[in-house]
Amino acid sequence: KKEKTLALIKPDAVTKMGSIIEAILDSGFVISKAKMVLLLRTEAMDFYNEHHSKSFFSDLISFMTSGPIVAMEVVGDEAVSSWRKLLGPTNSSIARSELPQSIRARFGTDGTKNAAHGSDSIASAARELEFFFPSSGGRAPKNTA
Ligand code: CMP
Repeated sequence: KKEKTLALIKPDAVTKMGSIIEAILDSGFVISKAKMVLLLRTEAMDFYNEHHSKSFFSDLISFMTSGPIVAMEVVGDEAVSSWRKLLGPTNSSIARSELPQSIRARFGTDGTKNAAHGSDSIASAARELEFFFPSSGGRAPKNTA
């Protein structure tokens, strides 16, 4: 079934965006929207609100606002689960021992600096796509320039 999901290239991997986009397209996905943005702290806290009580929340917000990110709408068959499979395990160190070909294994560093993000469900994908690419009247994160 054709689905849409949100893919983010995080600040640690923006210098490798060419290779990451190549991997996405080589896997048969279509990238239907893309933009580079610099998140405000308030925006990052809103995007990751489900993690607000976690021990790593402040590190995560600092990291995600440390530089530009690339947000993409990715379309394909079972795109939500397929993109997360291509991403590999959340922790890049673990990804390297389990799935050496995954995006996080190839381009990430550790449990926080893990190169990329994928929505974890159809409902999350809808919310996260609306966050970065509002359908109408919404306030989107501003372009880096
Ligand atoms: P992401 O898929 O974007 O979703 C939440 C993010 O929080 C995750 O990728 C990591 O960047 C970060 N994260 C998740 N778990 C941990 C953890 N145990 N320690 C530090 N950072 C984490």
